[in-house]
Parts: sequence; structure tokens; C-alpha cells
Amino acid sequence: MTAPVTPVTPVLREMRWWDIDSVLGLEKDLFPEDAWSRGMFWSELAHSRGPEATRRYVVAVEGERVVGYAGLAAQGDLGDIQTIAVAREHWSTGLGGRLLTELLRAATAFECAEVMLECRVDNVRAQRLYERFGFEPIGFRRGYYQPGNVDALVMRLTTAPGSGPAAGSPSVQGTESNG
Ligand SMILES: CC(C)(COP(=O)(O)OP(=O)(O)OC[C@H]1O[C@@H](n2cnc3c(N)ncnc32)[C@H](O)[C@@H]1OP(=O)(O)O)[C@@H](O)C(=O)NCCC(=O)NCCS
Repeated sequence: MTAPVTPVTPVLREMRWWDIDSVLGLEKDLFPEDAWSRGMFWSELAHSRGPEATRRYVVAVEGERVVGYAGLAAQGDLGDIQTIAVAREHWSTGLGGRLLTELLRAATAFECAEVMLECRVDNVRAQRLYERFGFEPIGFRRGYYQPGNVDALVMRLTTAPGSGPAAGSPSVQGTESNG
């Protein structure tokens, strides 16, 4: 009788330039209509290190394989979820929640008082994830997603002064960033 396979929990770490190829593979599968280019990931990572850093990008890896990624931009006290994505075979295992928790932790470190995001109005799955973390819908950007002229739902997470966005996360247990 074969021994049961124990699923490996993906590890979260800082995204580095050598991850871009793997990330692009997932990006094209998960955002077929408006996938980011290689250049967009390079320019985001160019702002993610050093004392002037304004970005936090992470990947979830299973062994050598990238199975998820996410990024946050911080401008003053405003944070912006730039992207979050999980390989389909890992959906509904909590990985999306772990990636979002890491971004909200970074938003706290950047001293953001608010975190915003845009999400396609038809992306109910993602909206449920964000609502679980306390994000609230505040408006629409008409025809934001091209092609297809799909509206964006704008969502916001505001935090109690001094507590930081991570305070609202449903599963904050200890430090996970091991970039
Ligand atoms: C949106 C996305 C990031 C969510 O990732 P995910 O890993 O499935 O997220 P989670 O597993 O944390 O949560 C998803 C659901 O699984 C449930 N879940 C979480 N852990 C679970 C577990 N261990 N067992 C069973 N269900 C679980 C959650 O409760 C949640 O359920 P709900 O949808 O009923 O609220 C992912 O679907 C994705 O990459 N989509 C394509 C890209 C995209 O749309 N990104 C967002 C752009 S705005």
C-alpha cells in the first residue's frame, strides 16, 4: 500500500528578478486578457529594495515552483494592492489569504493608513477574499479593464490609527516573511 502524499505547504519569500519567468507563466494563465509584461514586473521590482523602497513583492514557492505571487505599492500613507494570484491547483487552500496577509503586513511596515485595490466587477472570488480581510467597496471605475470595457470595483481597507492594516487580518500568527 502506497503511503499517503503529504501536501507541501508553499513557502512565502521576497520576489526576485529570477522569479519573473515563472511568474509570467502564471500571469498569462490567470490574467489572459490583461497580463502584465516582463517590463512591468522588472519596474515594480526595481522599487522594492533599499531605503527608498515603495514596493513589496512576494512569491509562494513549492520546492522550486512558483505557485502564487502578490505585490503592494505604498505612496505616503496610502497602500495599493497591485496584484495577487494563486495557481489554480492551489485555490481554496488559504494561499490567497496568506499572500494578502503578507501584503497587509508590508502596508503596516510602510505605515499605510489605508489600502486600496481595483478588482473586476465579475471577479466574485477575489472580492470574497478581500471582504474576509475587511475591505469594503467604495465605488467603480467605468470601463477600467480593456478589452471588454469591464468596470472595476474599487475597495478600501481603512485601519484604526496606529493599528496598521494587518490588524484586521483573520489569520495573523507570527512573522512569515522570510525573503
Ligand atoms: C482570487 C485568488 C487570489 C484567491 O486565492 P485562493 O488561494 O483561492 O484564496 P483562499 O484559499 O485564501 O480563499 C478562497 C476561498 O477558499 C476558502 N478557503 C481558504 N482556506 C481553505 C481551506 N483550507 N479549506 C477549504 N477552503 C478554504 C476561503 O474561505 C475562501 O472561500 P470563499 O471564496 O467562500 O470566501 C485566486 O482565486 C486567483 O489567483 N484568482 C485569479 C487571479 C485573480 O483574480 N486575482 C485577483 C485580482 S483582483
